[in-house]
Amino acid sequence: MNNSMFTVRVARRRAEAEGIVSFELVSLDGGDLPTFEAGAHIEVHVPVGLIRHYSLCNAPSERHRYQIAVLRDAASRGGSAGMHDAVHEGDEIQISAPRNHFALAKGNVEHLLFAGGIGLTPLLCMAEHLGREGAAFSLHYCARSRARAAFAERIAGSSWADRAQYHFDDGEEVQHIDLNALLVNPQPDRHLYVCGPQGFMNAVLDTARSLGWPADRLHYEYFAGAPAATGDEVSFDVRLARSGRVVSVPAGRTVVQALAEAGVDVPVSCEQGICGTCVTRVLDGEPDHRDLYLSPIEQARNDQFLPCCSRARSRMLVLDL
Ligand code: FES
Repeated sequence: MNNSMFTVRVARRRAEAEGIVSFELVSLDGGDLPTFEAGAHIEVHVPVGLIRHYSLCNAPSERHRYQIAVLRDAASRGGSAGMHDAVHEGDEIQISAPRNHFALAKGNVEHLLFAGGIGLTPLLCMAEHLGREGAAFSLHYCARSRARAAFAERIAGSSWADRAQYHFDDGEEVQHIDLNALLVNPQPDRHLYVCGPQGFMNAVLDTARSLGWPADRLHYEYFAGAPAATGDEVSFDVRLARSGRVVSVPAGRTVVQALAEAGVDVPVSCEQGICGTCVTRVLDGEPDHRDLYLSPIEQARNDQFLPCCSRARSRMLVLDL
């Protein structure tokens, strides 16, 4: 958990679409909140005792509020259901200061934003910022149906409404997204951003890679955790380079858990391989990367891993701890 949690008040709660509720969070004294960049997220202490990450979806120029939106996930492990059922207008909740792992590229470039369902939230924030800056961008918003598309009114009323295109699964064929046509031209000044369900993200990223987009122009953020363990886990050892201690990691325990039981604390937040808080340098051995945070290139270097979810392919991993 982030140590710098602070308390805010829920000033407004609003149904945005089928299954999606937004929350407007303000400071207790009505003063400014810490600044944030487009793409940033906050950690929210959900009243049911969980920490969850939510992207900020209002314009970064606003200092008086943070806005988040939460989809009630039928497979919720308590986070989204807790937000929907237990957080009401007037409540006080704990949040962290904003952090950004999904920043816009700098410079005079064109930005292609691809949103799948509730994955719209960080991209909406980006669109607000880019619209205000007069930057070149387009937003492709894919949703199962119009009723499930949040913030349609806000987008329609924005100064950049003509940059947004909707693609509904239940709509006519002609409006379905054609990724090959949209991504066919990976020019050096074009950057792609995607957030949404894993299948949607894989479709966008796989298409881009197959059409020659280089890794440094693909920006993405997962909002669901790394796939759960598949049961094929084996035990291995980690050696802590600074003390020489060896800690055994049995099947069914994460490296973070095994280290904690040995009295070694690694800072964690999401514990799902999404946020990067637990990233740890690997000095020797081959990690079995199971996170959604490192890029494929970073994973291939094998010099860092996420011990909240990743394991080892080699018998031993030597960690910079
Ligand atoms: Fe978030 Fe490990 S704690 S990636």
